[in-house]
Amino acid sequence: MKATCMVCNAPYDVERDGGQVIEIDGAGHYICKRDWPGFTAGVDLQKRVQETQDSAHSEQNETKRAEARQALTDFDSTPREIVAKLDEYVIGQERAKRDVAVGLYDHHRIHQGDMEHQAAGTTADVELEKANIMLVGPSGSGKTLLARTLARSLGVPFASADATSLSPTGYTGNDVESILTAAYIDAGEDLEWAGKSVIFIDEIDKIARKSQANPSITRDVSGESVQHALLKLIEGTMAQLPLGASGRKHPDAPPEYIDTSKILFIGGGAFEGFPEIVAKKMKRQTERTMGLRANPLAVSGDPQRDYEILAEAPAEVLIESLIEYGFVPEFAGRFPIIVPLAPLTKAQMRLALTEPKNSVIKQQVELFRRDGMELVITDEALDAIVDKAVNMKTGVRALRSLVKSMTGQARYDLAGDPGVLKVVTGPETLDDPTKYVATRRTSFKPGGTLPEAV
Ligand SMILES: Nc1ncnc2c1ncn2[C@@H]1O[C@H](COP(=O)(O)OP(=O)(O)OP(=O)(O)O)[C@@H](O)[C@H]1O
Ligand SMILES: [Mg+2]
Repeated sequence: MKATCMVCNAPYDVERDGGQVIEIDGAGHYICKRDWPGFTAGVDLQKRVQETQDSAHSEQNETKRAEARQALTDFDSTPREIVAKLDEYVIGQERAKRDVAVGLYDHHRIHQGDMEHQAAGTTADVELEKANIMLVGPSGSGKTLLARTLARSLGVPFASADATSLSPTGYTGNDVESILTAAYIDAGEDLEWAGKSVIFIDEIDKIARKSQANPSITRDVSGESVQHALLKLIEGTMAQLPLGASGRKHPDAPPEYIDTSKILFIGGGAFEGFPEIVAKKMKRQTERTMGLRANPLAVSGDPQRDYEILAEAPAEVLIESLIEYGFVPEFAGRFPIIVPLAPLTKAQMRLALTEPKNSVIKQQVELFRRDGMELVITDEALDAIVDKAVNMKTGVRALRSLVKSMTGQARYDLAGDPGVLKVVTGPETLDDPTKYVATRRTSFKPGGTLPEAV
């Protein structure tokens, strides 16, 4: 019988050659005698590589889990120390930092206690419940930055998700449960450990019901039903991990569940229009208790005033206002700690440029340093950037693009040029990026004569 070897593609007389026939996906193939040893070695190697990868993966997770448990046991940062850590990256927002630090501290204490009880086989007399936190502040006040930063000082898994990407089960978009996937991975694929996570849900204001005028008619899928789905997670449920999330090999493997009752949720959003609602409620309340017309709280849309309104409002007014804003009452009630963030002042913006550990300026300087150049942005230039940013709608966010546009031309002209020693950008580069001043390394060559000693 004649056949073509699937490895070397040459024709063979099967009986004479004495190679092997194998079946792949139901079809027979011939492998000649010369190629057979190599072929089997290859198959074997493939299998071995797969096996080592699998066991390395689970070993890695095993180590991660052990380290993680130790990190929680060892966690002994006080709220003050957590704030100090946040201070390294976030300018201002003292109140938000304090509230978040206490929330995180309590979260660790709850889980440390639970772990001790579990180890001792006992149960706590007082069941401690979590208190989820809602960060409310104007765009660019550092909500996302704060949440990202706090992930650095945790002894538990952390995940962050964007509420705008979520959709209720059965619709296109990510199932609400998908936010657990990231926590599960950060927990070294340990279901129980994932149940101790802190999960940040950004842009949470976007799932508020859009129309407050007639909620019964305009039931919008994107908002209210996501709230209901999310509510289940936040209240605490055995949530099924989305299929394939855990890297499970078979779709018919038993489903895996995470107990979400002790996951700490931190929501964040700009909540446009929210301070107005709070202000109106406060005014009505004052009128009721004082029996006279209170001074109308100026609803100015001024971010600083908005912050003051939120900072003064008692918790129950804030929660009622959340409901009016478009959250179902159960949902609003699940965020007992509502923390306002203030807009950055001009002075704080100036600090934000240079002070945080990974400030925009430090990042630029580092980029130039990697090309062997010293980048100097003069103080006057920094002032000019802030002046310009203040007048732009995107405020703090504009800082980065202003710095980038200021140094972009120099970067283009000089990158990769080993002769450049120093680049100085002054305020004039803000309008004309070609106005930077570059200093070249002094060139030298061997030889020359020394000046005579005096
Ligand atoms: N308090 C702050 N301290 C230092 N930098 C800040 C601060 N607030 C904002 N920034 C800078 O501005 C950028 C945008 O901030 P961030 O993404 O945290 O805003 P946000 O409050 O989440 O706004 P949005 O509601 O639009 O999402 C940050 O990457 C950071 O560089
Ligand atoms: Mg944000």
